[in-house]
Amino acid sequence: MMIRKTYHGLTPRKLFPITERSIYFNHAGTGPLSIPARRAIEECLGVYTAQAEFKTEAYFERIDECRHTVADFIDATPEEIVFTHNTSQGIYIALMNIPFANGDKILVMDEVFPAVRYIVDHNLPQVEKLYVRFADSDPVERVKPYLGSGVKAVVLDWVQYLSGEMVDLERLSGILKEYGVYLVVDGIQAVGAVPFSARTADVDFLSSGAAKWLFGPSGAGFLYVNKRTFPKLNRVHAGWLGARWKDFLDCQTRPALFDDARMFEQGTRNVIGISALAENIRMLQAFDIGHVYEHICTLKASLREGFESLGFEIVTPARGDQSGIITMKPRERAAALYERFVDNSIVISLRSGCLRFSPHFYNTQHEVETILNLL
Ligand SMILES: Cc1ncc(COP(=O)(O)O)c(C=O)c1O
Repeated sequence: MMIRKTYHGLTPRKLFPITERSIYFNHAGTGPLSIPARRAIEECLGVYTAQAEFKTEAYFERIDECRHTVADFIDATPEEIVFTHNTSQGIYIALMNIPFANGDKILVMDEVFPAVRYIVDHNLPQVEKLYVRFADSDPVERVKPYLGSGVKAVVLDWVQYLSGEMVDLERLSGILKEYGVYLVVDGIQAVGAVPFSARTADVDFLSSGAAKWLFGPSGAGFLYVNKRTFPKLNRVHAGWLGARWKDFLDCQTRPALFDDARMFEQGTRNVIGISALAENIRMLQAFDIGHVYEHICTLKASLREGFESLGFEIVTPARGDQSGIITMKPRERAAALYERFVDNSIVISLRSGCLRFSPHFYNTQHEVETILNLL
């Protein structure tokens, strides 16, 4: 389908100047910054250069507004949103707050991106880890044999970074809830491309940096903490800005921490990053994330058809709901093919001998054809 609307008077292509100099199919790598996000950053820089800081009231208003934007976007409430610096930090906060007892285990998707792997391996010395492969199988069937035997949490990537395979979160959270098992999701390879409803998916935690499908900027992100889950959690990773300050006239009168996930925001925030992230989300909402997703799926289907007719092995499964990623494996010369793309200003990813393509809403069928013609 065609997306015709504009945002701030700019068409999707004009919102992304990168489209003038390249065919950018690498949102699973890093999303380019949009013009509105750039303006939001410049506005913050204006404040910082002119007056050093936001006035206290304006600061809290801005953070509240951005929190509402994120919450609306994922069908959550503002009290369930924690601003973070990246996906890893959100996963860390989630795992530190799960009340693991002696003998509890954590089940980890074996093929996660290293972000989850490092957090799990290095911060939970007391918890036994079970690494289970999810690829090409029904996630519910994969976890079932482990339920009721001390597994307290499941951690996984909603979309696998290489194959693009996507887990049905609603089905999985359904069975995990029956066993009182927490579901912690790394959402960075989906959020911004695939619509997410926190109420429908009903996962316990979902963490996402802004850097990919949300168009940045790097160094900003959020963690969603289900309000049904929060009362059961430890309350660690709290800090002074996890409380509502009216002003800073008396810093010795300490306001109480928020009695919700906002308590996990420890200190001074990345207002520049949060403002730009919120602006990118408003832009996606203006174009309707449902339409954005349909457009991505259409481009992806054309790529699949083209790769198939050219005889390439496709790593991305055709069944199940689709993410924004499609990856193929040339029989040989993946690096040479990749170089050909680089030479023609087409940006994709070379990973593990595969070529990964990840289009977004401003990409076109014409660009898909250019890519296929190059093969
Ligand atoms: C699935 C997944 N998780 C996380 C990250 C990055 O983590 P962070 O935002 O903590 O840098 C990536 C980056 O490629 C990724 O593909």
